[in-house]
Amino acid sequence: MSADASAAAATPAPKVNPNAPTEETVLSVEHYTDRLFRFRITRPQSFRFRTGEFVMIGLPKEDGKPLLRAYSIASPAWDEELEFYSIKVPDGPLTSRLQSIQPGDKVLLGKKPTGTLVLDALTPGKRLYMFSTGTGFAPFASLIRDPDTYERYDEVIVTHTCRDNGELAYSTNLVRDIANDPLVGEMSNGKLKLFTSCTRTPHPTMGRITTLIETDKLFEALGVPKLDPATDRAMICGSMEMIQDVKALMIANGLTEGSNSAPAEFVIEKAFAG
Ligand code: A2P
Repeated sequence: MSADASAAAATPAPKVNPNAPTEETVLSVEHYTDRLFRFRITRPQSFRFRTGEFVMIGLPKEDGKPLLRAYSIASPAWDEELEFYSIKVPDGPLTSRLQSIQPGDKVLLGKKPTGTLVLDALTPGKRLYMFSTGTGFAPFASLIRDPDTYERYDEVIVTHTCRDNGELAYSTNLVRDIANDPLVGEMSNGKLKLFTSCTRTPHPTMGRITTLIETDKLFEALGVPKLDPATDRAMICGSMEMIQDVKALMIANGLTEGSNSAPAEFVIEKAFAG
């Protein structure tokens, strides 16, 4: 045995945490407004997730410890890269730094994606609603790019409500591009509908999604019947208050909340970062 080998045998190997985040490379960054941006990073081959799930994303802190927050994965499970859609909070511990990432920079990616905004947490139905506000659109950016969504539903309605028009760019561009997507373009044709509204600047449809549901304006604009637990399923993602308010409306319309272990008629999630 060489001297080196005996030294290695005597020194215990440093403990490696199997759950520690991996370091991934930023591939692209696109800024939409002074509050919103998206970025794409490398995806390790071993990273598996279900379309609609979230994962911890972060940056190392000055003291070397990671600073991580939950982020919905905005890309579908088949994509070779991972996409995220983020708010920029000026004094947010993570997003104040994350907003200045550039291609080539490193970000930390957690190893355990999870979540309930997945198709398997819903019982079969005809029409799938995805209600979102702000960055709550992110998990739906994943789901509307997954062929499984169109295989399971006759109609897929995504609603996105933001404060102003500029904040609708991500969802509007994505849905426009899906029409020409080689994988889901044809499948989504005639099935996928994006309904947008704004609450603080002029827009063809004004108002919070809760008001538009309560007044039936949403259903009139889409030309569909009112919510019906026999045919309709729903996913909800936005601020905590928005989720609670839309959830109350689902229950008032006879829909029951589901989960991974007990699929039912609607599921909720919250995607936020500070
Ligand atoms: P509003 O402008 O009336 O606050 P934010 O960017 O703050 O997350 O908000 C995104 C969108 O969600 C805004 O249009 C906002 O409307 C709306 N919103 C905020 N709270 C609720 C709620 N409890 N129910 C429905 N929509 C909400």
